[in-house]
Amino acid sequence: MCRVDPLLGNCALTELRQRKSEKWREYPPEVLPSFVAEMDFSLAEPITAAVTAAVAIGDCGYAHPGELAGAFAQFAADRLAWAPQTAHVYPIPDVMTGIAEVIQAITPPGSGIVVNPPVYPPFRFRFGFYGRRLIDAPLARGAGGRYALDPDAIEAALSEPDAAVYLLCSPHNPTGNVWSRADLALVADACQRHGVALLVDEIHAPLALPGARFVPFLAIDHELTRAETTFTFTSASKGWNIPGLKCGLAVAGAAAGARLLEERWDALLASHLGVLASVAAFTQGLPWLDAVLGQLDQNRALLAGLLAEHLPGVRYAPPQASFLAWLDCRDLGLGDDPAAVFQEKGNVALGHGPRFGAEGHGFARLTMGTSPELVEEAVRRMASAL
Ligand SMILES: Cc1ncc(COP(=O)(O)O)c(C=O)c1O
Repeated sequence: MCRVDPLLGNCALTELRQRKSEKWREYPPEVLPSFVAEMDFSLAEPITAAVTAAVAIGDCGYAHPGELAGAFAQFAADRLAWAPQTAHVYPIPDVMTGIAEVIQAITPPGSGIVVNPPVYPPFRFRFGFYGRRLIDAPLARGAGGRYALDPDAIEAALSEPDAAVYLLCSPHNPTGNVWSRADLALVADACQRHGVALLVDEIHAPLALPGARFVPFLAIDHELTRAETTFTFTSASKGWNIPGLKCGLAVAGAAAGARLLEERWDALLASHLGVLASVAAFTQGLPWLDAVLGQLDQNRALLAGLLAEHLPGVRYAPPQASFLAWLDCRDLGLGDDPAAVFQEKGNVALGHGPRFGAEGHGFARLTMGTSPELVEEAVRRMASAL
């Protein structure tokens, strides 16, 4: 029986397996994929309508920013209590390309990029392609498996002589932390003291779950929010599950930052269909987003119960945002990469913990943006591997 809001479709495996994206092609059909940060729900109807209407009239040319900045500003005002300056909002093909381009623009080769592992794997390898190196400021892990920013680790990382950029993931992937205003101020103060640029990846912000209050970095009262080298990055791609449509947004703290983005338009061309889809998401996709938030809220509680019942050795702190469950499997005795064992013996593909940094050894990441039935099925398969 389907227990998902009708707006989100039914997450039937037979239909999902017709999808041709990476999630559904990476593994053979007997493996249940739960590794990539994608959801299984049907698209929001206004997005389908916007994209199909464009395709129907051959409207598949190069992107124009169109209504994107205004649509995002409206969403930010309605949902994030923030009024971004639309002149500072710029379309980008995706968040990682935007971050990489800005890093190349504002730092010389050899510069250090500070990140907080365990963290989204491309933060760890992408900038190496451009000759930048990683400086780790690991998160602190507290009681109950909750993570926190570690001021001493941040201070040590920023004190490295070549530290040039702090890349904050807010909300954090994979731990699901939603950082408070005080957390953001701590990071901003530290960056300011060390003369280090601050880039904030807010891609998971539309998915802050009940009980958490997401604070956009540019909405806090801090001098650094107006700095030339401060940028935030976001997208409709996680919230509305459209990463394949290729459109994100960079928001510059200062007019000079906006000019920097404008100058690099050729490297930062978003997809036209992505811009249209994102405008539809931000303006007409809120009922769908609310249905997703309700489902994710249920799923994160359901997962806690399922783990307690079938995998009591796994420790899990429910995320404050998004659909990712960061599972501490160290007590299971499955070695550094439990996801490899779950896949081989249980036919369920989770994210490999070690890819998130040394702090991910013994961990795996499960994706919960699906029906309760498929969350249950994933846990059942994990348990069968033991
Ligand atoms: C924190 C974070 N940043 C960036 C991305 C990738 O976004 P994009 O496809 O827009 O580069 C993801 C995808 O999961 C993510 O979790």
